[in-house]
Amino acid sequence: MIELLTVVSTKKVAVGATELICRMPEVKKIEPGRFMHLRVGPLLRRPISIANVEGDLITFLFKEIGQGTKELASLRPGDFVDALGPLGNGFPVNLIEPTSRVVLVGGGIGVPPLYYTMRKLVERGVTCEAILGFDTAASVFYEEAFKKLGPTTITTVDGTAGVQGFVTAALTPERFDTLLACGPEPMLRSLQTVPIQDRFLSIENRMGCGIGACFACVCKTPDGNYVKTCSDGPVFRAEAVIL
Ligand code: FES
Repeated sequence: MIELLTVVSTKKVAVGATELICRMPEVKKIEPGRFMHLRVGPLLRRPISIANVEGDLITFLFKEIGQGTKELASLRPGDFVDALGPLGNGFPVNLIEPTSRVVLVGGGIGVPPLYYTMRKLVERGVTCEAILGFDTAASVFYEEAFKKLGPTTITTVDGTAGVQGFVTAALTPERFDTLLACGPEPMLRSLQTVPIQDRFLSIENRMGCGIGACFACVCKTPDGNYVKTCSDGPVFRAEAVIL
């Protein structure tokens, strides 16, 4: 499950956000919403979401938030990345009917996995819309890429691009029957009460091992139990977890 990926390119796509494209040793089928645990130091790995997979190329997009992710962002073509995965359970793309009315809602660094998810849904003939929320215009990325897949609305908290406010300012629940979302916890919590029939949330919990062994990523469930974000998720039905 651990393999060395070869860096093809790194590119800054917005303030503090880097896109890393790597070549995998072999073509792999990877479901949207899963993640990889990339080594970012001698003893440290970070869960990084998968923004796209095409043939043997895999795209990651991450925020530079510490020394490890800064080092990942400074990799050069031909360098190697030690990758564990793909891990976790992703969005149920293959169970969504082509007749469904799907909205994908992403916030900040939760946006990347939704690009791959929307691409796969559109490939299956599902009509999708996207609502992507950012802090400010300089943080916006992938707007044009999403627009090629379907109608896309940008929201920014300060109103410097798109609709001013949070993603919920642009969401009209009555137009959709399926919601797929990924982003910060307050955003996901607000989506738990949105009246859309099927809602799937990808949780961005802090992780340790990434493989279900350390309990660093547990999340409470309504029946008083716990689930592990890394191995039971990161995608859950909205009503299955307490955020
Ligand atoms: Fe260790 Fe989930 S990160 S159990």
